[in-house]
Amino acid sequence: MSFKEKLKKDNLPQHIAIIMDGNGRWAKGIGKLRIFGHQNGVSAVREAMEGCVEIGVKYLTLYAFSSENWNRPKLEVRALMELLVNTLAKETKTFMDNGVQLRTIGNISDLPDKCQKTLTDTIELTKTNSKCVLTLALSYGSRAELVDATKAIAQKVASGQLDIKEIDETVFGNHLYTQGMPDPDLMIRTSGEQRISNYLLFQMAYTELCFLEKMWPEFKREDLFEAIYNYQNRERRFGKTSEQL
Ligand code: FPP
Repeated sequence: MSFKEKLKKDNLPQHIAIIMDGNGRWAKGIGKLRIFGHQNGVSAVREAMEGCVEIGVKYLTLYAFSSENWNRPKLEVRALMELLVNTLAKETKTFMDNGVQLRTIGNISDLPDKCQKTLTDTIELTKTNSKCVLTLALSYGSRAELVDATKAIAQKVASGQLDIKEIDETVFGNHLYTQGMPDPDLMIRTSGEQRISNYLLFQMAYTELCFLEKMWPEFKREDLFEAIYNYQNRERRFGKTSEQL
């Protein structure tokens, strides 16, 4: 029986976040350049996205480029930006056929103009698709997101739009880039690294973490289904005892 067949339809994660790690190491391992790994990572993105659509996961958020990734060699950064533009252009039909709505989180204004334009066009084109929301974290850093939210709230308090007593976790969450999205239920990171790497720190307070040894280009939808199967066999207590659930 495949993992997909073993999944309980009434206990699917609503939101899956992924750290797509290991492209460079995978490429080096077979004697190729790092960018070859990123190029092959695109098919794994398709596997994850189509896997989510296939079983009914509503939100998929992918860490595609962190704010720290700007420090990589210029050539790799440029190649990644080009890959993003080309992939979005090529995958438009996949988004439309699968009912996928594209969104972004992060400092999009840092990206090259061509990237920004392709993203804006694809977001506009897919905005009424409703099967799955695919969010790309680009030039994203969670600490910067928390600082931005704090500034926005402070500004509202200073201008009298918001009373300090009204600030609670919901109000705070509504000022994050992810406003309106449920928190991730499951976070998957490939490549054997066991870190969060400045990803969705506020949103992942109660997220189940799954670390896979596989490198991202090797990721297949069956890996996604296996991770969801393992997720379904965990007990999420949210601070309560087993007996209280
Ligand atoms: C991490 O692997 C991966 C990235 C920084 C980029 C992710 C990009 C893709 C999967 C391709 C394009 C994606 C989209 C959405 C079009 P790494 O380079 O850090 O690997 P390493 O740790 O082995 O060096």
